[in-house]
Amino acid sequence: MIAKAQIEDRYKTVFESQPTHIVRSPGRINVIGEHTDYNEGFVLPTAIDKAIYVGVGKREDDLIRLYAEDFKAYFEISLNDIRPVDEGWPNYILGVVNQLKERQAHIGGFNMYIDGDVPLGAGLSSSAALECAAGYALNTLFDLQIERVEIAKIGQLAEHTYAGVKCGIMDQFASVMSKAGHVVKLDCRDLSFSYKPLELGDYAILLLNTNVKHSLASSAYNDRREACESGVALVRKEYPEVNSLRDVSVAMLDALVKPVNEDMYTKCRFVVEENQRLNAACDALESGDLEELGRQMFRAHDGLSKEYEVSCKELDFLVDYVKSFPEVLGARMMGGGFGGCTINLVKKSFQDLLIERLAPIYKEKFDLELTAIKVVPSNGTELL
Ligand code: GLA
Repeated sequence: MIAKAQIEDRYKTVFESQPTHIVRSPGRINVIGEHTDYNEGFVLPTAIDKAIYVGVGKREDDLIRLYAEDFKAYFEISLNDIRPVDEGWPNYILGVVNQLKERQAHIGGFNMYIDGDVPLGAGLSSSAALECAAGYALNTLFDLQIERVEIAKIGQLAEHTYAGVKCGIMDQFASVMSKAGHVVKLDCRDLSFSYKPLELGDYAILLLNTNVKHSLASSAYNDRREACESGVALVRKEYPEVNSLRDVSVAMLDALVKPVNEDMYTKCRFVVEENQRLNAACDALESGDLEELGRQMFRAHDGLSKEYEVSCKELDFLVDYVKSFPEVLGARMMGGGFGGCTINLVKKSFQDLLIERLAPIYKEKFDLELTAIKVVPSNGTELL
């Protein structure tokens, strides 16, 4: 948590004026349902108690002035000159501004101060949190009357156009729409959703951060998306009513994709089965069967690692290691993959012992720190 007063103070120092609004937009976890969102499938995310915070205020001119606390860096550009820039981090905000301009929204120059406590590159969607914080703050500052779900979509398009990742809607939706103590079951086909209480009794969600970030992750992500789309195109030759992997069965894949491209088949089948696992996990959560929920998580990891091939040796090691403890009901890699965190369903009383045992072994094996993150399911984007 970062206090509102701290953001206000820093804004004042950095811009020598008063911020009009302070917005908090959180990072997210996802219990199960990975790489399903861009295939019109289901996901089960929620926001966490780690967030991006922005302070905003209007300017008299048409400049956009940004300050990122993490990098101790300013960035400045004219509103009329919006384009992707080499600096990297401003793109998440400029991408949002660009989307607002495409929608003919009336915005003027502004200052934005950015801070946060979402670990970067940990697969907790700090970029989506930043996009949504920026979208929500500008919506409020310029009184644009944009709906919450629309803010999530603006964030997603900013990511496509200014960050080059053809992501699904999960991260932005979770950041904007989550409700404390609940997960969101989101149908990515029509964005209908329901909140499900995350009641884990003696168990808790524990994240273990590999502290690995592979630079190829975004191109591999886009490749996976293409493989899914090519699979759908093959199925459509026979079933023109099919729009996405959501409409596809394993039998269709067996008949139409397997004979053409075995690898594409394996990727598509993973997505179809991941939706089935998510539904089984939801039933388990509803009936309080945490063992079954955990089993679905382990199975999901197997698929992500061996079939969809988006894991890495560090993630695989962490999941394998915790499997031997009866106090850990489930674990899997989370998010896009190739690094970041595993999500673990662990007995509360065992969490510290697990971290104590695992951290030195991990360090010895990979020469990397293992960071444990305890998270609390939290509310989505809000004005402070
Ligand atoms: C990233 C993307 C999401 C989603 C996940 C994988 O986090 O931003 O849209 O596709 O990967 O489930």
